[in-house]
Amino acid sequence: MSHAMVMTAFGEPEVLQWRQMAAPVPAPGEVLLRVRAAGIGPTDLQIRRGRLAAVFPQGPGSVLGFEAAGVVESVGAGVADVAVGDEVVAHLPQQGGYGELVAAPVWFPKPASLSWADAAALPASAEAAVGTLREVGAEAGETLVVLGAAGSVGALIVQLASARGVRVIGAASERDADTVAAYGGEPVVYGDGVFERIAVTGVRRIDAVIDAAGRGGLVEAVAATGDPSRVVTLVGSAEVARSSARLSHPSPDRAPDALAITVPLLAAGTLRLKPHREFALTDAARAHALLESGDVREKVVLRA
Ligand SMILES: NC(=O)c1ccc[n+]([C@@H]2O[C@H](COP(=O)([O-])OP(=O)(O)OC[C@H]3O[C@@H](n4cnc5c(N)ncnc54)[C@H](OP(=O)(O)O)[C@@H]3O)[C@@H](O)[C@H]2O)c1
Repeated sequence: MSHAMVMTAFGEPEVLQWRQMAAPVPAPGEVLLRVRAAGIGPTDLQIRRGRLAAVFPQGPGSVLGFEAAGVVESVGAGVADVAVGDEVVAHLPQQGGYGELVAAPVWFPKPASLSWADAAALPASAEAAVGTLREVGAEAGETLVVLGAAGSVGALIVQLASARGVRVIGAASERDADTVAAYGGEPVVYGDGVFERIAVTGVRRIDAVIDAAGRGGLVEAVAATGDPSRVVTLVGSAEVARSSARLSHPSPDRAPDALAITVPLLAAGTLRLKPHREFALTDAARAHALLESGDVREKVVLRA
């Protein structure tokens, strides 16, 4: 048996409860991890509220959490490149990170220099960032606008794109302007009129836009690029169809190499994460409540 913060129903944060449950069993190709840290993402909060049931079938009785870092406890059939006791960073498309144990289909060795919290804060954002950058096809010399440039996903997009010679305009709040600049982006204040503000700075051409915020601007983004295939959003809304922008879904082939690309950069200090705050795993309901209220702006990492 093991324990996890089980989502006992859809609803308020209190539906997350510490429960005993059958230990997960790694399927062929998976590893079983003893979780040391697990990231909370905004999607977890939406799933808990029951707003994404059409996209994520896991309902009451399941365990949230798309990302974790931990120690390999056992391996499924066919797994040869990792051993019991190894420390790994894991992406969990089937969720389950808020538990003592989780079966992981996607992992990468955790360098000893990388903290458990940093390792757990990376995977889902890295997969989304690497995947959307590929989908939008931003090349060196082009100009990319990132909406939500100081968020967990946006921060990685700005850094990865600017490192490869893309000019990045990062839309963020005024208080995050210095952070966006430190990531290699040119900050612009987010919200209504953002594309007009970009235009007055003298930017002649916008080649691509990635929306990592879901707060509008897709119609303007498509008008600015002149090509809906070069506007990708991570967040579903009525504006997606209205603008003809592309909605990017998590999928096994979106960026299977995301951890191989980003873990070494993070360990080397050439990639930085949005700041995070740690809570005990058993405090996940309080962490959800504080994130929903806006009292916590940082990414939250749960420590087992
Ligand atoms: N489809 C997928 O595969 C996928 C994968 C991962 C994440 N997501 C979704 O992507 C979104 C971002 O995730 P995340 O983890 O990066 O969240 P996050 O860390 O909370 O970042 C969101 C950022 O958007 C900023 N923002 C707020 N209003 C904005 C506006 N009007 N224009 C531009 N930016 C604005 C926020 O700034 P303030 O702090 O100032 O409010 C924050 O920095 C979430 O909705 C998440 O559910 C989707």
